[in-house]
Amino acid sequence: MRHQISLLLFLLPLLHPTLAAIKIASALNVIEYTPEKIAKEDFFNGTVSIVNGGVPTLFSDTSVDIASNAETQALRNYATHKNLRIIYTEAEVAYRIVGNKKSGITTAKDLKGKRIGVVSGTSAGYFVQKYMASVGVKDSEYTTVSGSVCLAEPCGSGTFPAMLKSGQVDAVGMWEPTVELAAREIGLDNAVFFQDAKVYREIFNLHTTSDKLANATKRKEIVDFIRALEKAMALFRDQPDKVYKRAADAVSMKEDILKAVWPVHTWSGTLPEDLLSVLVREDSYVADVDRRSAMSESMLKDLIDDSVLKDARAEAKNTS
Ligand SMILES: *[C@@H]1O[C@H](CO)[C@@H](O)[C@H](O)[C@H]1NC(C)=O
Ligand SMILES: *[C@@H]1O[C@H](CO)[C@@H](O)[C@H](O)[C@H]1NC(C)=O
Repeated sequence: MRHQISLLLFLLPLLHPTLAAIKIASALNVIEYTPEKIAKEDFFNGTVSIVNGGVPTLFSDTSVDIASNAETQALRNYATHKNLRIIYTEAEVAYRIVGNKKSGITTAKDLKGKRIGVVSGTSAGYFVQKYMASVGVKDSEYTTVSGSVCLAEPCGSGTFPAMLKSGQVDAVGMWEPTVELAAREIGLDNAVFFQDAKVYREIFNLHTTSDKLANATKRKEIVDFIRALEKAMALFRDQPDKVYKRAADAVSMKEDILKAVWPVHTWSGTLPEDLLSVLVREDSYVADVDRRSAMSESMLKDLIDDSVLKDARAEAKNTS
């Protein structure tokens, strides 16, 4: 009897193939990551754990299978980890700068000589530099001031919205909802927004490593997760009413603030055609910040792997 039981216990995993288990590292306070949470809760057949982190976590914790971040962090890490792969674009976000009219800002050129709140070395730092150059203001003609993001009012001292209100900065260029909250802090009548998606949009991606993809079992789990994520992305795009509250709760934001910044976000769910050329252009900025030489296009080409998305789409077709 005892032997029979132990035989049964031994066979059980064979009868019920172990459920897929995926571990993801994402910044748990950014709106862009929230489709992952909906995919985990509604669409993935298996267990998903999402821990706070980003692309660097893939290399500091090898139990992490997928990591999400903006393109800036991909470039920073690819320089030293050539096994990094971008496999999916979750969101594209046209960042904004909000200026305070009381600082004499009404047009983009008025940002000349002003203090702009931004975290340099991030996607926002790159955005501010590119945007200013696009309106003819040189790096040396404005000052950047560091501070913290704010997700919900009240925004405490040291956060960009509080700094805009107190006059420590004249403008703020960050990801959302910090810009929206900064505008509300000074009153929307005093706020002027600057934005140009053609000059810069954040491309927020899912990443893995070529080592993870070389393991057939793990690769299938990753493909399955992308398939689940595609279903979540469809909700974000087509039925946002179904996810506003859950997405807002996930990042401890108020639902009305999330709705206000929703139009700034495009829930792409693809790999954009121009991703490689964006990476090539942006790497000259990241290389400068990191004091290394820029990577060539032929080197950056391998950072993008579209085969996972192709497999996910092919399987989705077969099963529908
Ligand atoms: C391949 O991935 C599976 C599923 O995550 C894991 O159980 C297995 O240990 C991996 N194999 C190797 C050689 O890493
Ligand atoms: C999860 O399993 C169900 C039932 O087997 C299936 O209909 C569904 O397509 C699966 N979902 C994904 C994302 O694979």
